Amino acid sequence: MAEKGRVCVTGAGGYLGSWVVKLLLSKGYTVHGTVREPRDEKYAHLNKLEKASENLMLFKADLLDYNSLYAAFAGCNGVFHVASPVPSSTVPNPEIELIEPAVKGTLNVLKACHEAKVKRVVVVSSGAAVSLNPEWPKGQVKDETCWSDKEYCRTTKNWYCLSKTEAESEALEYAKRSGLDVVTVCPTLIFGPILQSTVNASSLVLIKLLKEGYESLENKPRTIVDVRDVAEALLLVYKKPEAEGRYICTAHITRTRDMVDKLRSIYPNYNYPKNFTEGGDEEKLSSEKLQRLGWSYRPLEESLVDSVASYQEAGLLD
Ligand SMILES: NC(=O)c1ccc[n+]([C@@H]2O[C@H](COP(=O)([O-])OP(=O)(O)OC[C@H]3O[C@@H](n4cnc5c(N)ncnc54)[C@H](OP(=O)(O)O)[C@@H]3O)[C@@H](O)[C@H]2O)c1
Repeated sequence: MAEKGRVCVTGAGGYLGSWVVKLLLSKGYTVHGTVREPRDEKYAHLNKLEKASENLMLFKADLLDYNSLYAAFAGCNGVFHVASPVPSSTVPNPEIELIEPAVKGTLNVLKACHEAKVKRVVVVSSGAAVSLNPEWPKGQVKDETCWSDKEYCRTTKNWYCLSKTEAESEALEYAKRSGLDVVTVCPTLIFGPILQSTVNASSLVLIKLLKEGYESLENKPRTIVDVRDVAEALLLVYKKPEAEGRYICTAHITRTRDMVDKLRSIYPNYNYPKNFTEGGDEEKLSSEKLQRLGWSYRPLEESLVDSVASYQEAGLLD
């Protein structure tokens, strides 16, 4: 296959980043991947991806180190900015651990892209930058015009939501100011098989449903999308010239109990939650804009089955 061009993926070794790298390599792109510790064993899976030996180059870069980012982006037509801290539990110092790498990190990425004359930057935001809006009319479907309320995130101490909301809004502001072509994608909770050997925060949610044996759990509504479909969405918005602004990327709304029932019917022997309490308002997000661009998604059952298979293979459910 002829070379498709050179692109960079930040956070290449993470859960979503690894799938983006895999997809790009499979489509014939030459890929630069940024990681923080190139020699760490946790990135070994990247070098095993098909075509990695010819077409993948890893660069050591930190989001707070502008020069390291610029070096990774030089010569690239496109950048997929995936890296951002995603903690599994509360962090002691959210300003330093979350907000700064997300917001200042994104601005560093965009400035370096501008400087390196990158043609389009796809920024991974989150449903967390869409949903937390108490002013949004109850029951109305949330589309790309809905933004999480930063003040509300602050007062409710939703630091991850704040980090993603601020990073995405600053990214779109920067695009307006500088003329850099920036498209953002907001995935909801991501499930699906893991390629990496360490456990990321969203996979941990599912792993805990399988093995934690909770006495009682809230039967929350969950909006879910498969990691492979998110990777496809990122490539789609990169390739389609008409793509612009933000895109919500979500597939299924389900409640925790329904998901557990489905899992239990396929894998009866895991240590599932014992009881549920009712709670949480149903919320609807729409990916219509992304679907109009040509995006589609797989059934939830496929995501769940493939997730469990990958956890079993990695020995995470033993
Ligand atoms: N998983 C979800 O449910 C979900 C939903 C919506 C949006 N997202 C977004 O998707 C993206 C990827 O998340 P993920 O689920 O794949 O989580 P992940 O596996 O934890 O990946 C996060 C990545 O960010 C990198 N990173 C964090 N801080 C950094 C810094 N200061 N400098 C450089 N790299 C840094 C990490 O690099 P190291 O490998 O060096 O640690 C890692 O590769 C994030 O932007 C996240 O907000 C995720």
